[in-house]
Amino acid sequence: MSYTKRNDGRKFEETREIKAEVGVIKNAQGSAKFQIGETIAVAGVYGPRNLYPKFLQDPEKGVLRCNYNMFSFSVDDRIRPGPSRRSREISLVTQRSLAPAVNLNEFPNAVVDVFVEIIQADAGTRCAGICAASMALADAGIPMKDLVAAVGVGKVGDKIVVDLDKFEEDYEGGASDMPIAMLPRNNEISLLQLDGELDVKEVKEALEMGKKACENILEIQRKALKDKYKGGK
Ligand code: CDP
Repeated sequence: MSYTKRNDGRKFEETREIKAEVGVIKNAQGSAKFQIGETIAVAGVYGPRNLYPKFLQDPEKGVLRCNYNMFSFSVDDRIRPGPSRRSREISLVTQRSLAPAVNLNEFPNAVVDVFVEIIQADAGTRCAGICAASMALADAGIPMKDLVAAVGVGKVGDKIVVDLDKFEEDYEGGASDMPIAMLPRNNEISLLQLDGELDVKEVKEALEMGKKACENILEIQRKALKDKYKGGK
């Protein structure tokens, strides 16, 4: 089905409005909030701290552990609290998206815990969570070679678009959603999933658009980190 105009009037290559802030949780070593449209993620980093049970420890380097959770009231229908198959999958892909950016060699036997909470969901929550988490890791002073920026790309009807919202993900004319995460400095991709169908040409086009969006997101993440230290917080 032809999708000629986006529901909210955005250009096809345009993300929703993005707001980013660090230092939002006083008791965490590092924390951040990342909002894209109506999707809001908050991340808190705790550690490096001792990892128990001990058999999970790595004597060579620290372990990065991620937990993704959606608040019960983050969507129209209440979500049942507690882990689900979906939250376990997203926790795992979040960990794998962030791991190439962090260097935990200085912290043998320790764990760095990253908690991602989705306060409000309007699609793209795993990407918003990854963006918030990478800012929180930087805020915590964890050694990193780059920030990680993430965004959903995909196809709505017959159009390749960036940052699908819930209306677009559920588009009656068909939609495919491809969340990606990047370490923009080295042009490295650390997450690529696909829900739906895209041909090779469409994947390339979507990746190109996603890459540009990630570069823009990176600037917003950097600015939020700089602003914190400018304000002397
Ligand atoms: O959020 P993301 O796109 O990364 O993951 P998804 O599993 O493809 O979910 C898409 C969207 O569906 C979420 O962002 C939520 O807005 C919504 N959702 C929901 O309403 N209830 C759920 N139990 C799970 C997801």
